[in-house]
Amino acid sequence: MSNVKEILGNYSSDIIKTIEDELSVITPNNLQEASIYLTKAGGKMLRPALAVLTSEAVGGNKENAFKAGAAIELIHTFSLIHDDIMDDDDMRRGMPSVHKVWGEDVAILAGDTLFSKSFEIILSSNPEDIDPSQINKALATVADACVKICEGQALDMGFEDRYDVTEDEYMEMIFKKTGALIAGATKVGAIMGGASQDVVDAMYEYGRLIGLAFQIQDDYLDLASDEETLGKPIGSDIVKGKMTIIAINALSASEGSNYDDLLEILKKDDNSQEDIDLAIELFNKYGAIENARTLALESVDKAKEVLEILPDSSSKQALADIADFVLERHS
Ligand code: IPE
Ligand code: IPE
Ligand code: MG
Ligand code: MG
Ligand code: MG
Repeated sequence: MSNVKEILGNYSSDIIKTIEDELSVITPNNLQEASIYLTKAGGKMLRPALAVLTSEAVGGNKENAFKAGAAIELIHTFSLIHDDIMDDDDMRRGMPSVHKVWGEDVAILAGDTLFSKSFEIILSSNPEDIDPSQINKALATVADACVKICEGQALDMGFEDRYDVTEDEYMEMIFKKTGALIAGATKVGAIMGGASQDVVDAMYEYGRLIGLAFQIQDDYLDLASDEETLGKPIGSDIVKGKMTIIAINALSASEGSNYDDLLEILKKDDNSQEDIDLAIELFNKYGAIENARTLALESVDKAKEVLEILPDSSSKQALADIADFVLERHS
């Protein structure tokens, strides 16, 4: 895991610099500051690292994938700003969320600015290094991921007042809100690296599978981590009545016994710490956390099998290590 943290850290400063340069022309000042703020706060940089490593693993160089990776990170950041407005969360990356500092109006605009800049970054790729068809495919991949994020977020919000969500519905929702962008990152990496169509498809599948596990772990960390480590609020999903896989499993397993207790907590918006603790106790009692972990582990194992299409290399090994890291991470 420390190995993976090092790998992700290697890309961090270059990606931050690329993004800062791209955003330095934005006016007025408050919009520029609100747009750059979360990048400066520092995220894991998982998605750009995936794009670059995938490019290398298919035999391309890292420069070609670099801008696409930065573009994907901008889409990710845009989705976080808007997500914190929708989820009414006050903390992100250990700092007050963008809408808490600049207000919702500027936060919405900052998200929209990052969204648009993402496409401009890809369009600024050097045409001497990259074929126009690769740029077109990268743009199409990012656009498709964005549509899916919006669909997934709409499903996520729609599930907040439904308590009969099925596991299949949950899997579709998390693929769209989280898996699609991670799959987009590995797909643009493969495209920029010049991979054949079957390898591009396999790398999308690898990204999709680790993306599912990534969101299941995110749902778990919302219960099991602490605010300082995670950099975002704990128990937020319970307060909002989010249909995570853990809540879905616990609701169905508790039918006939603690179902009503759990439902009441999930329905309430003003939960006390005792409510949150009781929900977590029930999640444990009904094996919901363990089940979620098994599901996520299966996804990671399948993702590693998919990697077998690639020739052996240190980049391929890093992708396998990242698949494990998704479930080992604490933040
Ligand atoms: C958080 O993503 C949002 C989800 C898709 C669950 P990350 O956990 O990758 O966030 P940062 O970029 O490291 O802050
Ligand atoms: C993340 O879902 C989805 C997107 C940001 C698109 P969450 O709402 O669970 O993410 P966190 O936990 O706030 O990072
Ligand atoms: Mg959220
Ligand atoms: Mg959300
Ligand atoms: Mg979450």
